[in-house]
Amino acid sequence: MRIIGREREKEILGRCLQIDRPQFVAVFGRMRTGKTYLIREYFHSKFAFYATGLSD
Ligand SMILES: Nc1ncnc2c1ncn2[C@@H]1O[C@H](COP(=O)(O)OP(=O)(O)O)[C@@H](O)[C@H]1O
Ligand SMILES: [Mg+2]
Repeated sequence: MRIIGREREKEILGRCLQIDRPQFVAVFGRMRTGKTYLIREYFHSKFAFYATGLSD
């Protein structure tokens, strides 16, 4: 994992992984602050599927 920092965020995502029920996580913030990068890197091999898009 090449994630720099984000210790608190990784701890939250790790706790979600340990819970044996589906979890909903909303990641929000200004653009280019690392939201997509955090999710992609943290869950890199654990995706069943991945989709992304824009509203328009
Ligand atoms: N925690 C991080 N560690 C290392 N590089 C990062 C980190 N967060 C962001 N980056 C770098 O910044 C770029 C932009 O982040 P990105 O996830 O696309 O932002 P967002 O989805 O919030 O718009 C990434 O492609 C990556 O190169
Ligand atoms: Mg993004």
